[in-house]
Amino acid sequence: MVNLDKYSSIFIANWKLNGNSSFLKDYYEKLKVNSNNCTIICSPSIYLKSLKGNNENLFCGAQDVSSFKEGAYTGELSASMLKDNNIDFCLVGHSERRQHFAETNDKVNTKSSNLIKENIIPVICIGETLEQKEKNLTEEILTSQIKDSVPNLANHQNALIAYEPVWAIGTGLTPTLDEINQAHELIKNFDQKFIDFKVLYGGSVKSSNSKEITNLSHVDGCLIGGASLKVDEFNTIIS
Ligand code: PGA
Repeated sequence: MVNLDKYSSIFIANWKLNGNSSFLKDYYEKLKVNSNNCTIICSPSIYLKSLKGNNENLFCGAQDVSSFKEGAYTGELSASMLKDNNIDFCLVGHSERRQHFAETNDKVNTKSSNLIKENIIPVICIGETLEQKEKNLTEEILTSQIKDSVPNLANHQNALIAYEPVWAIGTGLTPTLDEINQAHELIKNFDQKFIDFKVLYGGSVKSSNSKEITNLSHVDGCLIGGASLKVDEFNTIIS
């Protein structure tokens, strides 16, 4: 398992359903990994094998994993298959999966647990919708997502948490810096065991705001969608 303690910041590129072989080749030729940071590229699964570089601070992550271990589940990829292909990280419970693929906290919990057992680090995504924020339910939602999505066997060395307000994803909107720091503090103070967890922020991160976000005392890195597709932009974010 990757030693997370080694890194001061963690940056994850979430390509979502984007990219092809030539995009990937060009991206890797131009990518400049900073050796103080852990950089993880989450490409569509079919490209994961071609991503492995020889930079010790650059890793591959899957965007999802099956909650099943094996059997008659057409189209699925198991945690052990990811391990078999040297994948070190996997996003779990991204809001797009919760929204479009009916992913529940229970499923996120099972997937995360299966990943940890295969020595893959789950990046467990949580976050409130705009409606929930407007009803002042952010704290309640985050608390219940942590309680139900994070498996008992997770700890700060084998799992990551990403706080991604749903309304900030792909919209260009972000919470204030205070709101981000407070949400991260809430997550870390949820229970004694979360104090040392690395918590990443995601939602409309770009080169113009990444520095002030990563400098926040309770933020340990960022999960980047749209801006990670432009390699120059991503290079600035991770530099
Ligand atoms: P965004 O996406 O950076 O495009 O807002 C973040 C994410 O979905 O993880």
